[in-house]
Amino acid sequence: MGFRRGKKKIIARTPGELDAMEAAGRIVGEALVAVRDAAAEGMSTKDLDDIAEEIIRSRGAYPTFLGYMGYPATVCASVNDIIVHGIPDRKTVLKHGDLVSIDCGATLDGWVGDSAWTFGIGETSGKATALNQATRFVLYEGMKAMVPGNRLTDVSWALEKATDEAEEKFGVELFIVDGYGGHGIGHEMHEEPFLSNEGAPGKGPLIQEGSVLAIEPMLTLGTVDSVVADDEWTVATTDGSWASHWEHTVAATASGPRILTPRTVAD
Ligand code: MF3
Ligand code: CO
Repeated sequence: MGFRRGKKKIIARTPGELDAMEAAGRIVGEALVAVRDAAAEGMSTKDLDDIAEEIIRSRGAYPTFLGYMGYPATVCASVNDIIVHGIPDRKTVLKHGDLVSIDCGATLDGWVGDSAWTFGIGETSGKATALNQATRFVLYEGMKAMVPGNRLTDVSWALEKATDEAEEKFGVELFIVDGYGGHGIGHEMHEEPFLSNEGAPGKGPLIQEGSVLAIEPMLTLGTVDSVVADDEWTVATTDGSWASHWEHTVAATASGPRILTPRTVAD
């Protein structure tokens, strides 16, 4: 750091580049909506993956996750106590009351969109419903800090504060998963910087007009601790408590945060 302290900035994209990122992001949004609409008891997570892949390819885009560091699918499908990076397969069959996170990326014209949401299969328990509404709330509150002039950890702080507020609002104790968070994004899915989902404000690189981050709170009902399975991807809670995960790719603009992964329906 030394003399460069405080001078770092998150790379700024031009308005035209943001439009190009949004074109990729819209396809992700479409895929997420299609998967949620189709998801039902008795379907496997592989069935959901097929739906997302079909949408992405039919729009002329490429499923970003597929082949990324050897990842074998189009989406991550993380059910119940799986926090993130669940690999879709035929043996994971959805049941009534399950809480399913679908995370998806698409690359179009060299730009990446990355987004996730979590939904129930039929009706979920009161606690699972509260957890999921809370995590959604934390994403939308946290992204309000994605404005030019803020620093990276102003977003982290906003996410942490929103988590505290969500505990009150939704009447549930929440745990912020340790060690995972959001990231810069552009031509690559994972670019600098890493975005923590908690921490003190006012630190890290400057958010400029045109800076883009993938913001992705991950909350659980019981623990901040996670374990990676033998498949080297699946991340589960250590205590079996359930998790929720919501993500948008968001640009900071002069007129406020701009979601680059919009969904065709209200969430
Ligand atoms: N969307 C995930 C993340 O946010 C990436 C999934 S990892 C992959 O950062 F390998 F599945 F692509
Ligand atoms: Co991401």
